Parts: sequence; structure tokens; C-alpha cells
Amino acid sequence: MCGIVGYLGPQEPKNIIIDGLKKLEYRGYDSAGIAVIHDGKTKRVRAEGKLKNLEDKIVSEHFNGHLGIGHTRWATHGAPVERNAHPHQVGEISIVHNGIIENYLEIKEELLKKGAEIKSDTDSELVAHLIWEDIQKTHNLLQSVKNTLNKIVGAFSILVMWEKSPNELIAFKDGPPLIVGIGEKEFFVVSDVQAAIKHTKKFVYLNDREIVHINNGSVQFLSQKGDVLKKEIVTVDWSADQVEKMGYKHFMLKEIYEQPRAVAQAIAPYIDTDTHSVLMKNIGYDTAEMYKKIDRVFFIACGTSYYAAMVGKYLIEQIAKIPVETDIASEFRYRKPILPENTLVITISQSGETADTLAAIRLAKEHGAKTLSITNVAHSTIDREAMGHMYMNTGVEVGVASTKAFTSTLSLLNILAVQIAKARGGISPVSEKEIVKALLAVPSQMETVLSYDKYFNEAASKLGEFKGFLYLGRGVSFPIALEGALKLKELAYMHAEGYAAGEMKHGPLALIDEKMAIVVVAPSDDLIDKTISNLQEAKARGGKIISIGTGENAALKSMSEFYLSLPAALWTTNPLVAVVPLQLMSYHLADHLGYDVDQPRNLAKSVTVE
Ligand code: G6P
Repeated sequence: MCGIVGYLGPQEPKNIIIDGLKKLEYRGYDSAGIAVIHDGKTKRVRAEGKLKNLEDKIVSEHFNGHLGIGHTRWATHGAPVERNAHPHQVGEISIVHNGIIENYLEIKEELLKKGAEIKSDTDSELVAHLIWEDIQKTHNLLQSVKNTLNKIVGAFSILVMWEKSPNELIAFKDGPPLIVGIGEKEFFVVSDVQAAIKHTKKFVYLNDREIVHINNGSVQFLSQKGDVLKKEIVTVDWSADQVEKMGYKHFMLKEIYEQPRAVAQAIAPYIDTDTHSVLMKNIGYDTAEMYKKIDRVFFIACGTSYYAAMVGKYLIEQIAKIPVETDIASEFRYRKPILPENTLVITISQSGETADTLAAIRLAKEHGAKTLSITNVAHSTIDREAMGHMYMNTGVEVGVASTKAFTSTLSLLNILAVQIAKARGGISPVSEKEIVKALLAVPSQMETVLSYDKYFNEAASKLGEFKGFLYLGRGVSFPIALEGALKLKELAYMHAEGYAAGEMKHGPLALIDEKMAIVVVAPSDDLIDKTISNLQEAKARGGKIISIGTGENAALKSMSEFYLSLPAALWTTNPLVAVVPLQLMSYHLADHLGYDVDQPRNLAKSVTVE
């Protein structure tokens, strides 16, 4: 993962780079560093831990010059200590790197044989050695970058600067994202547009094995062979405000509270509010034509996006009545999947950059499957590679633990299920209307749930007493239970497992005692009675129940330590409202425990390595 910022322009780079890194801290936060060509020499400062430590270290440092690179790290090779922090400098060359150099052992051996002095445990430093070794022969940064690109294998995006050439910045990539921001006589090279959106709205997205050469006020995009490429300049209409906390204590809390608006924004392009019908839009292909032809759907995703995919399976199978499989991307890509003709592979990825999901969509394309991506970030790599495109449209999501992207995706999956059913003549106008009305009601239902936040906070304050958590649900509530358990793990660092309520008797019942909390997602649907029976079994063994149900469910309430009430929704939209208390309880518990909610330990928002 890691976040990269490079700047070349008339301003002093320090503040621009630090400010940009702050927006990228979600990509990694175990060390950070900056290097600037200062009075003809490389001035480099690095610090272990969060970016704040680097900021404190350089607060009174002055960096002259106009060219600089910065980095915030998520360790792959080498412990998160200052010695391994980026930028890495070898001779007059400094680099920042995001990704993994797979042939680093070979390169290291070669370099050691030649007597190179390797100072860190990283694979990244080796790239700086290769360029430095080469440039002493070529005296040409671009040529040396090209030569080095031939020697490295892996997934990487790299920025390079050379002390001797303070008006030149080179970037190249094969894997993790790299984007060039084009301002007024100034250039930014960043891992995510958020890092430069304050300065420009014009961006160029690099493809793999492309090189950016910024030199003396102009920019060129080159293929590895050196051919000049004509690249599209994209205008990104995100505002800088979207990446501010706007008075909330954490980004995550702000994003939880943004969900009513996010869901409304996600569904708006697909709904005719007069007729309460779903529109069959052209989303890169003619939806009606495409959905008529398919006979199977595969959902591929990771993390929270995978749990959204699981909800998608219930929705599409029950509404559109075609078979759906779900796969975790890291499994799908290596399990040699069978993708029959007329398969639609749908990838879900907030960032649009998750390495395993990207590999999965590429594999699907190789097999000739049709592809649809559901992403939040337009122009992200996954979005660019897919045939069809749907957008979560939630605005920037900064908190590492995904919230509003999840619920926006669930709303899109409702739309998609109706679209597929409609194209195949499999849904009545009455059912379509019912689903649309239910979707339109979600924002205000979510507002109601949010207004109960103090009860979720109160429930959360009791959760710290438990030694473990079982999250249970049936049907569409099962993936919500999995998501609830994930939220608790990632934010509060407590052991939690999500389970299908009916599966309890096949193992988890053995875990139950009075130190085990059972969080059950049990909205009033067809399966509620069965879920209540499962809870009786747990209660009889001393388990403490925290339940989330619809309205005043007396049966559920009487057996629960805490009962949290949801507004009545349709089975298709229950997951959207039921997940909100789970998000808030994990948020509050982590906050009570004093953990960093927006940047949980060891995690990163966008996972661009395998
Ligand atoms: C990381 C994040 C999760 C996210 C997952 C998939 O693990 O911490 O919040 O759900 O990646 O990310 P994607 O961008 O593909 O949805």
C-alpha cells in the first residue's frame, strides 16, 4: 500500500507534501518521510510512527527548492522503523516506492557482490541502488529509469529525483495507482487524487509500465520503450471539503452520519421517482441486452465489499432468479474458476485499486466473461478495466473501516437485482415498485437509526466486559452479522466471529458462557422465528444477548440484555438500516478504549499488494 506524493513547481514543497501525505495516511501509517532538493543537495527527514511524528520533526526545518517527494508507509519488507522509512537515498538518487519488488533477493545478491552498502531491510532501497549505479554511466535520469524498469519485477509505483537535476521528476508504475495532477506550472504525482485535489482538479491516470517525465515545466508520458503517449486529462469534481472532518471527532463518524445522503446519491441516477421504477441505463453496455443473455453471476471482492457481495447473492437470486456465486478475490484468482459462457463477473471495490480484486477482474476478462465493476472511485484501475460501471457515488471515504461505501453498494445491489429481473421479464411492476419505495425510504430510516446513537453508545460501553463476541444472522442478515464482527475486530481489536444463526449448533454453542456476547441481527422477516429459536439455545447456555430487531419485538426484547430497535423496512433494505447500529457500537467501543478509529493498527484502506 503506502502513499506517495511528489511535487515540482514554483512553491516550496514541504507543506504541499505533508498536506498531501495527511490525505494518504489511510494507505499506511507506520512511518513517513520527505526529501527535497535543497540548495542543490538532498535534504531528507524520516520518522517512525504516524505522520505527526514527521511533522513534529520538521516543524522548524526550512526546505528550499521546488522539487520534493514524500511517503507514508505500510510495511511489507522490513520492520516499521526509521531506517526502513522512505524516501530511500543512494548517492544522489532518492526514491519513494509503493508495492513489492518480487525479485529483490536476486537484486540484493548482485548489489552485495558489487560491494553496495545496503542500509535498510526494504526491497525499495534496492531500486535506488540500481538507478544510482546506472546513472553514473548514463548521466541521464530518464535513461536510467528505463534501464532499471527492465530489471525489476513486481507491483510498484515509484517516484525518483536526482540531486543534479532539480527541475526533473520521474515516476513509473506497474501495479499500484499513480496519478499526475496538473496545476498552473506545477505538477503533483500522487497515489490518490485526494492528495492534490486542493491544488488542481486536472489529473492523468497512469497505466502499468508507463513513465511520467516532468522536466523544466512540462510533462511527457512515455511507454517503457520510450514512445510518447497521448493521455487523457480527466477533470475530477471532488471538493477539498470532502476530505475534512467537518466538526466530527473522526472521519468514520462523519461517514456513518453521511449514509442517508450517500444512499440517496447512489440510487438517484437509477430511479424514476414519479413511476417508482428502476431505469435500465447504459452503463458501458446496454443493460437490458446484457442481462437478458447472462445465465450466472459471480461476485468478487475483499473485506467489507465482500460482505456486500454476499448480500448481492441473496438479492439477485431471489429477485432475478439466476444463480449467483460469491468469491473472496484472493481465492478466486488462484482457484482456477470455471466461468461458463454468459457469465457476468461483478467486482465490488470502494477504492477500485485492491490488488486481488483487480487480478480477479483481469482473470475474468481472460476467460471472456462480461465484467461489471461497482466502485466509489471513478477512473480507478478496476473501473477502467471493467466493461460496465456502477458508482457508489458517496464522495471520498477516508476512515479505514468502510461504512458509507458499504451501504451505498447495498442500495446499488437492490437496483441491479431489479434491473436483471426486469431485463429477463421476471419481476412484476408491483414488486418493482415495492423495492423502489423501500429504497427511497432508506435515507429517512437511517436518520431515525442515527438519532438513537446514544443507545448504541450506551450498549457499546458495556461491550468491553466480554471476552468474545458471536454475531449472528440469517438470510440477508447473515452477511450483516459478518460485517458487524469485522467492524468490531478492525476497530476495537476484540475477537468476534460472524455466524449463520442456524449453524450455531455445529460448534459455536460450545463457546458460550456468560462472558460471551451474542449480537444478533434479527429484523422482522420470514426467518425471524427461526433466529429467535437459535437465540433460545444460546441464552439457555448463559450467553448474553444484544439484539437488533424491528420496532418493539417483545419476544426478542425479553431475552436480550440490550435491545436496539430498527424502523420497519423491506427484507431487501433491512441490511442497510441494520448495519448502522453495528457500525456505531464498534465505533464507540473503540473510541471508549482510546483506539485510533480512523487508522486501526496494522490495517490500510486500500490494499494494493497481494
Ligand atoms: C481494506 C479496507 C476495508 C475494505 C477492503 C476492500 O481491507 O480496510 O475497509 O473493505 O480493503 O477494499 P475495497 O477498496 O476493494 O472495497
